[in-house]
Amino acid sequence: MYDLPFLDLPPLRRAGGTVRLPGSKSISNRVLLLAALSAGRTVVRDLLDSDDTRVMLQALQALGCTLQRLDSTTVVVSGLGGRLPVRQAALFLGNAGTAMRPLTAVLALLAAREGGAFELRGVARMHERPIGDLVEALRQLGAGVAYLGQEGNPPLRVHGPAALKLAAPIRVRGDVSSQFLTALLLALPLVAQAQPITVEVAGELISKPYVEMTLKLLARFGVAVQRDGWQRFTIPAGARYVTPGEVHVEGDASAASYFIAAAALAASDQPVTIEGVGLASIQGDVAFADAARAMGATVEGEANRLHVRRGAWPLRALELDCNAIPDAAMTLAMLALYADGPSTLRGIGSWRVKETDRIAAMAAELRRLGATVEEGADWLRVHPLPADGWRAAALRTYDDHRMAMCGSLAAFNPARQPVRILDPKCVAKTFPDYFETLWQVVEADPADIPVICIDGPSASGKGTLAAALARRLGYHVLDSGALYRLVGLAAMRAGVPTDAAALQDEAVQARLGELARTLPVRFADGRIWLGQEDVTAALRSEEAGAAASRVSAVPAVRTALLALQRAFRRLPGLVADGRDMGTVVFPDAALKVFLTASARARAERRHEQLRARNEHASIESLLAELEARDARDRARSVAPLVAAEDALALDNTHQSVDESVATVLGWWAQRRPFGA
Ligand code: DC
Repeated sequence: MYDLPFLDLPPLRRAGGTVRLPGSKSISNRVLLLAALSAGRTVVRDLLDSDDTRVMLQALQALGCTLQRLDSTTVVVSGLGGRLPVRQAALFLGNAGTAMRPLTAVLALLAAREGGAFELRGVARMHERPIGDLVEALRQLGAGVAYLGQEGNPPLRVHGPAALKLAAPIRVRGDVSSQFLTALLLALPLVAQAQPITVEVAGELISKPYVEMTLKLLARFGVAVQRDGWQRFTIPAGARYVTPGEVHVEGDASAASYFIAAAALAASDQPVTIEGVGLASIQGDVAFADAARAMGATVEGEANRLHVRRGAWPLRALELDCNAIPDAAMTLAMLALYADGPSTLRGIGSWRVKETDRIAAMAAELRRLGATVEEGADWLRVHPLPADGWRAAALRTYDDHRMAMCGSLAAFNPARQPVRILDPKCVAKTFPDYFETLWQVVEADPADIPVICIDGPSASGKGTLAAALARRLGYHVLDSGALYRLVGLAAMRAGVPTDAAALQDEAVQARLGELARTLPVRFADGRIWLGQEDVTAALRSEEAGAAASRVSAVPAVRTALLALQRAFRRLPGLVADGRDMGTVVFPDAALKVFLTASARARAERRHEQLRARNEHASIESLLAELEARDARDRARSVAPLVAAEDALALDNTHQSVDESVATVLGWWAQRRPFGA
């Protein structure tokens, strides 16, 4: 969605309302794999639709599994019953640890039993992430695993057949990533027909709640693993995956942390309600709610939702061993900026081998915001920022979704500094709509929401320029001309005359004002609706344009449209085009551009547009019409077409659209506090 070089967040003030979380990444990928390994059909509901689940779905398909997508969050998996119909495949698993580790184990064991060869690759960062301890364990079992790149990291090739040695306990390290143990627990039931299989964990097991989640999901699919503390796990003989038929994926508890944090930071009349995770969750990261509570947030839980409000303010400093909540702990580092003293997060050594080295990344970006940060091999100490210590920062995200989502929490800073998130689309790993979801529950003061105004005469290319700028900045667009065209069209539909003589009549003016005030307009998916009618095309007609130009001179119409236009000023920002955006509607806009081109160039462009729509008019007649309309727009007594005093003039007669966009983006960069 946000395929942008950066996204600017204005200072955020309030939070409240309801969010529905996307499905948990960890549950989604485990359930997909379990469903694929079971016999029979599994309907998976509320599945996460993101990069990490996409690579898992593609891999399962490549392995011969039939998937039927009912909608973006519902997939029907026809399971393979523990056998592989294909014997060779090359899988690309992006940066999804939840796909790479379990699939390596599953394919290594199935290839050993049935024969075959499979390659597993990912993005460059995946090829730096550890997998050696899992490979060691699989080799102990007798499975064939070869490194295709560096020793200890993907890419890998697993191959068979090979005789598996299942009698002796298998040892696996638990102190680098709990996913190695999870991978074995998911794979071993496939080969535990004749005898039970025992896994022993060497070293202190980290991230225990994720292993617990694995065990609960195994149980849902019919395999009851015996656990002896966190050291020994035994898969019973005769284990077999049985589909429960239907599985609902919980909302993502790690993602909940950003909304819990927003609620803890922003004053509000109503709580933030988070739907999809709650007290009944099987995800360890719900424990983030306890940490937030310790810092001062007021959190009330139900089985499947949380209600959060700001409590103590400033937040209370925190000392916490975060071993059990490694992902959500990043969010605590952000909250620590708003605390009453330094906070120390311990037990976060696993951060070093995640999507990026998260200890180094978090320390660097918190410092960019102005904070003092100390770091060690497996800990981080964050000193709070005084109100005058915050800097407007462009935060690096390291292709790490959590760095981007965490960064957004800096926008609650009391210094009212905006925050720039670089490469915001990395949130697509687990939460493609993160920013849109955030906008649903946070508010900024309207004056803080940036507006760029593009005013100018007809056919100067305002709409094209505004749309291109909005796309580059991730902002909303207001095509104010369309609103006047809507009034013109509504008048025609209602039989209200708009000729020059009629417009002298006060009763007609009042009716037009009433039409404008009660315009039943709806903007949806790039279409514009007037009541039940899709008027997108009709609005662009010359007739509607001419009517718009006439009704736009009526003061009652202009007044009526003012509130509607200002309502477009929504997070994260707006590009507005028209005639009086900079002079009347948004006089406080951060950047005002007055766009012109010679009348002939504009007539030629309009001619070209019409030709593309198979409508024909001579350039000369278009020129005459444009000049008449300009004259009318300039001469009218209310909000005439003039450049705002503080507008920058841009004559694009000899410029391409891309050149105009580059010029305006250059001006915009100068007005932003982030530097080059
Ligand atoms: O930009 P456009 O061609 O869609 O605009 C149609 C008419 O609406 C234009 O002739 C003048 C009027 N208009 C206006 O008065 N104020 C605006 N902000 C936008 C358009």
